[in-house]
Amino acid sequence: MFLDDLTQQFGVSGFEEPIRAFITEFCQSHADEIIKDNIGNLIVIKKGTGKSNRKKIMLSAHMDEIGFAVTDVTEKGFLKVRYMGGISNQVSVCQRIQFRSGTIGVILGGKDKKDDRDFTQLSVDIGATSKEEALAHVQIGEPASYCGEFTPLCGRTVCSKAIDDRIGCYILMRVLAEMETKPYHDTYFVFSVQEELGLRGAKVAVSTCNPDIGVAVDITGSFDTPGAPNGFTKLGSGAAIKVMDGSVVCDDRLVTFLCDYAKANDIPHQREVLARGGTDAGAIHLFNNGVSSCGVSIPTRYGHSPVGTVDMFDVEKHASKLLME
Ligand code: CO
Ligand code: ZN
Repeated sequence: MFLDDLTQQFGVSGFEEPIRAFITEFCQSHADEIIKDNIGNLIVIKKGTGKSNRKKIMLSAHMDEIGFAVTDVTEKGFLKVRYMGGISNQVSVCQRIQFRSGTIGVILGGKDKKDDRDFTQLSVDIGATSKEEALAHVQIGEPASYCGEFTPLCGRTVCSKAIDDRIGCYILMRVLAEMETKPYHDTYFVFSVQEELGLRGAKVAVSTCNPDIGVAVDITGSFDTPGAPNGFTKLGSGAAIKVMDGSVVCDDRLVTFLCDYAKANDIPHQREVLARGGTDAGAIHLFNNGVSSCGVSIPTRYGHSPVGTVDMFDVEKHASKLLME
């Protein structure tokens, strides 16, 4: 399954070259045009055939993943790091991370729950015994991602690092590859950069696409594990149709359209409200005079971790819905 390869490509926010190359290669034979903009977004265009009222639809999934970057090295050869995106210390301690250079390190420190977001407590041990030895392997600013191999669990459930948002990239790639006829509307498949640092890529991509409709394809919460906070979406109940999240209130007409379409076609779906966290739709809908936007999300357990977990049932039932747009 190419989702496996997709999750394992390196792509920490701002350092997306490996994942961008992987996606570009896949899309080449399916696209009418491919643009890489100056910030690194990959925009794959499929021209529409519509004669009247042809619109521009932007589907956006971010290809960047959360991670770390080296800020300093101690005399004894331990690395200090900052977060690239929303990282929890508790989740990170005792995890392996891999630097872009290939160097592997393990994370220590930061077990105090009160300071779960204070990255100054973390150190990374790459096995070096001096500052000089460490700096021979990594440089200041060097990015790293969690190690977390792609692993099938029970049923149709899988877990991996970077499920956020390679699962969205996977869906866009599937939709693109499986389009048998040309779409009615011009369709822009955007693989955006730096979403995890504040939707930075999408802010730029939206001006290149200048869309009439924007759709973010991303992960959302799954509130069905022991001790989970209140929330509606859960694994295995179908793709989620976003009503709102921390960055956007979706266009009510699009939400209704998607829900009605799913009902009429017997597509399992669930309505999504995410109290915190944003998606590319948050950047898209504010562009220019405003862009009618919505989102389709995959419920995910342990999103920002090496073991993000999704049910492929929710994923597969997704593609046809997007196609219809
Ligand atoms: Co995220
Ligand atoms: Zn995401």
